[in-house]
Amino acid sequence: MAKLVINNGSKKSTIAPEIYGHFSEHLGRCIYEGIYVGENSDIPNENGMRTDVVEALKEMRLPVLRWPGGCFADEYHWMDGIGPRAGRKKIINTHWGGTVEDNSFGTHEYFELCRQLGCKTYVNGNLGSGTVREMSEWVEYMTFSGVSPMAELRRENGHEEPWTVDYFGVGNENWGCGGNMRPSYYADEYRRYQTYVRNYAGNAPIAKICCGANSDDYAWTRGVLETCFDHCEAHLHGFMDGLSLHYYTLPETEDDWNVKGSATDFTDEVFYQTLKRSYRMEELIRRHGGIMDEFDPGKRIGLMIDEWGIWADVEPGTNPGFLYQQNTMRDALVAGMNLNIFNAHADRVKLACIAQVVNVLQAVILTDGEQMIKTPTYHVFHMYRHHQGAALLAGELMHAGTAGGGKNELPKLSWSASEDVSGVITVTFTNHSLEAGEDVLLALTEDPDSYGVLEGSVIAGAKNAHNTFEEPWRVCEQAFDAYEKRGDGIHVTLPPCSVVCVRLKKDIGN
Ligand code: AHR
Repeated sequence: MAKLVINNGSKKSTIAPEIYGHFSEHLGRCIYEGIYVGENSDIPNENGMRTDVVEALKEMRLPVLRWPGGCFADEYHWMDGIGPRAGRKKIINTHWGGTVEDNSFGTHEYFELCRQLGCKTYVNGNLGSGTVREMSEWVEYMTFSGVSPMAELRRENGHEEPWTVDYFGVGNENWGCGGNMRPSYYADEYRRYQTYVRNYAGNAPIAKICCGANSDDYAWTRGVLETCFDHCEAHLHGFMDGLSLHYYTLPETEDDWNVKGSATDFTDEVFYQTLKRSYRMEELIRRHGGIMDEFDPGKRIGLMIDEWGIWADVEPGTNPGFLYQQNTMRDALVAGMNLNIFNAHADRVKLACIAQVVNVLQAVILTDGEQMIKTPTYHVFHMYRHHQGAALLAGELMHAGTAGGGKNELPKLSWSASEDVSGVITVTFTNHSLEAGEDVLLALTEDPDSYGVLEGSVIAGAKNAHNTFEEPWRVCEQAFDAYEKRGDGIHVTLPPCSVVCVRLKKDIGN
C-alpha cells in the first residue's frame, strides 16, 4: 500500500489558473470548423463561434487561449484579418497543408471568442517575418483607447473600446520556424521588438513572453537570458514576464518526425515509453528552471510551457498537414501527469497551453461537421479545474513503486494536492500501471480526523480506449466511491490505467 502524507498546514505557491491554458492555431480544422463556422452556418453559432464548442470549453473552465500560432504566427500579418470579411486577403497557409487562408477569423473574431469563453487573451506576435512597426501597431490597434491612427481604424472596423491583451508572445519558435535564429541574435531582436509592445496609460500591463527553448536546448535558455539579463534586472516588469518552453511527446521515436506512432494502435511497451518520455517534463522544468534561477532567483519570470502534449501520426486518410489525431486513455494519463508536474512547480510555471484546443494534436475536442465529442484529455482538464487558483500543498508519497520497467521505468503514480479558498482540498492522481491498481492511504498532517470525502471522480479504461462520434462517452469522468475513512486516514483505491480526483472537506462526517 502506498501512503500520501499531505502537509495541509503549509500552503505553497498559488497554482496559476493559466497552467490549464490552451492553444489555437490557424492549422487544419482547429479554428475553421472546430471553433469558427461563420454566422451563416447551419451549425448553431453565436457571431460565428460554434455554440457546442464554446459551451464545452466554458464548462471545462478554459482560463487562457493562445492565438494565432505557432509557426503560423511568424507569417501572420494582422492587417490581413481586419475590415469587411469579403475584402480580406486570401493567403496560402504555407506551414499547414498549403490551404487557402481567407482571414475570415482575425483579431476581432479572436477577441469575440475570448469574450464568449470568458478567458484571458494571449496573442502571439510576428517577429520572424514581420516588422517592429507592424507589431507595435497591432498592440496599438488592440489596446489604445485614445486618438491614434490604429485606434481610429479599430473604431472604423466596429469596435469602439480597446480590448485587453493579457499576454503577448514576441515571436514563436524563433530557433526554428520563426526565423532559424541563434539565441543571442533572437535575444537582441527580442530586446528591440518588445520595446514597442507598449503599455498604454490606464491599461493593465501586458505580460510579455520571450521565445524560450525547444525541449532540452538548455543553451538557448542560457543564451537568451545572458543577452537579455542586464535589461531584465533593471526593468524586469515590462521587459520580460515569461520565457516559453515547448516539449512534445513523440510516442514511437525519439526525434524522427516522420514516424511518430499511431494515436490509437500501440503496444504496452510503446504505452510506457510514451509516459516515460512525457515524464521528462519534470526534468526539463527543473533544469530550465535552474538556469532561470541563476538570473532570476526571485522567480519573477514565469516559465510558460505554451506548447505541450502527445504528437502522434495523423489519423489514416486525413491531410498530413492538418495534424488530426485521436485521443485515448494514454492521452488522459499524459495530461494528468503533466498537470500534476506543472502544479508541483507552480512557483516557476505560470502558464501552459496544451497543443491544441480542437481537432489538432492532443485536442480536448474533436468535431466532424456538426458533431462534437469530448476527448479523454477534455475530461482530465475538467476534473482538474478545481486546482486553478488554489494553493499548492506539499506532501510526500511513499511506497508507490514504479511502472513500465527497463528503459521505460517511471513512477507508478503521480499526484498533486491543493486547497481552495473555501478550504476544500483537491487531490489528483494518475496511475500509470496497465495491470495493477494501487491502494493509497491519504494522511493529512493537520486536523486529519475532521476531514471526509466531499466528492470523487475517475477516468479509467484500456490503454487505447477512446471516444468516437458513434460512441462519444466511452471514456469520461465518472463518480468515484472507492474510498473509505478509517482510523489512520482515508483509503483510496486507484484502478489500473486511471486518473482519479478526491476532494476533502472538513466536518462532512464520512
Ligand atoms: O503545434 C503545432 C506546431 O508545433 C506549432 O505551430 C509550432 O510552434 C510547433 O512546432
